[in-house]
Amino acid sequence: MDFTLNETQRLVRDTARRFAQTELQPHAAQRDLTEEFPAEALAQMAELGLMGVNISGEYGGSEAGVVAYSLAITEIARADASVGVTMAVNNMVGEVIEAFGTDAQKEHYIPKLTSGEFSSGSFCLSEPGAGSDPGGMRTKAEKTDDGWVINGSKAWITSGEFAGVFVVWARTEMDDGKERISAFLVDPDTDGISVGKPEEKMGQRGSNTVSLTFEDVAIPESALLGELGGGFKIAMVALDGGRIGVGSLALGLGLEATSLALEYSQEREQFGQPIGNFQGIQFKLADMATELDAARLLCLRAAWMKEQGDLRFTRQASMAKLYATEAAWRACDEAVQIFGGYGYTKEYAVERLLRDSRVTRIYEGTNEIQRVVIARDLSRNGL
Ligand code: CAA
Ligand code: FAD
Repeated sequence: MDFTLNETQRLVRDTARRFAQTELQPHAAQRDLTEEFPAEALAQMAELGLMGVNISGEYGGSEAGVVAYSLAITEIARADASVGVTMAVNNMVGEVIEAFGTDAQKEHYIPKLTSGEFSSGSFCLSEPGAGSDPGGMRTKAEKTDDGWVINGSKAWITSGEFAGVFVVWARTEMDDGKERISAFLVDPDTDGISVGKPEEKMGQRGSNTVSLTFEDVAIPESALLGELGGGFKIAMVALDGGRIGVGSLALGLGLEATSLALEYSQEREQFGQPIGNFQGIQFKLADMATELDAARLLCLRAAWMKEQGDLRFTRQASMAKLYATEAAWRACDEAVQIFGGYGYTKEYAVERLLRDSRVTRIYEGTNEIQRVVIARDLSRNGL
């Protein structure tokens, strides 16, 4: 078993780290306050190859693999998780088109997602009445002579106001009269699409989250992504990969909080000595670091398995997402504790890190749903 990173992985991680520290970190607190979408930062990241780390070179990606992608997103999220989640969704959209698209779809969309021509893509699965249970979605695509007409609404769509392409899931009628879910690539400028007011969120406030309404949205035949009726599986395959990204993002938040708390514990004095001298504080830091290391290993294992191409990694991706997001939440919470009253103010970053980490336990499938996925896999395939 070899835990050493190869040269490409180190290069991607170091590029992401340098960019995050110099270009993202200085603006993260302001972005949290103003909720400004990080368009410029995303364009710079595209130039550095960070908007397509796991996309093949043929479509303008860095072709550096899933482990490199996991490392990169951890670094970006350490500085600004709002940028991290935008990058993660863009990556998921690029990957799903690369995996299931026709040559024409890949050639048309992916280079725009990797080059920065599009600020991002959007992954439009959830609906107001169907979050954990996307199989219960109501959005419908009806066949016409020359394409499809979509009606319905989507909720919580990351980057929905700024995206260059939407992947939209909708019910379609099959030849036997039954309905199944299909996926479509939709141009956001198409007539009939309206974008709701951005959600006012607790954290990751620099990321854009909106609802979308589709009213008689006509799209061409060529917009179908993958097989008719095959959309649910496409979403599940995409989410398996996406969950590695969210785990890696949460890891970045936890690491940043732990690093800040360690530094503070060595400077802050009470009872005539640094608080870091007290075993009560040392034990907290030891637990935070240990749990985050376990989270890192789970994320990298799932990333490595995905990178092999022929290994099923559904259970491992859900374990990585579940554990890393909960470890990150605990680390951020303990970091606030170590900072004492100051940790509860905007003077220090730990309160933002705590808020930013909360949603990682909700999106990309809540942690209850990760447990559903893991438990089903256990019952089918054993331990
Ligand atoms: N890979 C391939 N196929 C899969 C699969 C996987 N991981 N998981 C399920 N499938 C297939 C099944 O084999 C089954 O196929 P058949 O119909 O041929 O038998 C089909 O999909 C239906 O599977 P289930 O019966 O297991 O489906 P379900 O309705 O019970 O739901 C679920 C399963 C895991 C709970 C799923 O609904 C789920 O993941 N829910 C959470 C949704 C979610 O994660 N949303 C995230 C939105 S994106 C986002 O949030 C972005 C962001 O973070 C910023
Ligand atoms: P619900 O499904 O209503 O769940 C409510 C509660 O019930 C949760 O605690 C849940 O775990 C629990 N629950 C539900 N079913 C079960 C069960 N079977 N067993 C045990 N507990 C259960 N979606 C997209 O499609 N694209 C995006 O880009 C996107 N970005 C997002 C960004 C943000 C900031 C947020 C907050 C959400 C985003 N989402 C996105 C939606 C996200 O994936 C959903 O919020 C999530 O899947 C949960 O759905 P819900 O909010 O409808 O909660």
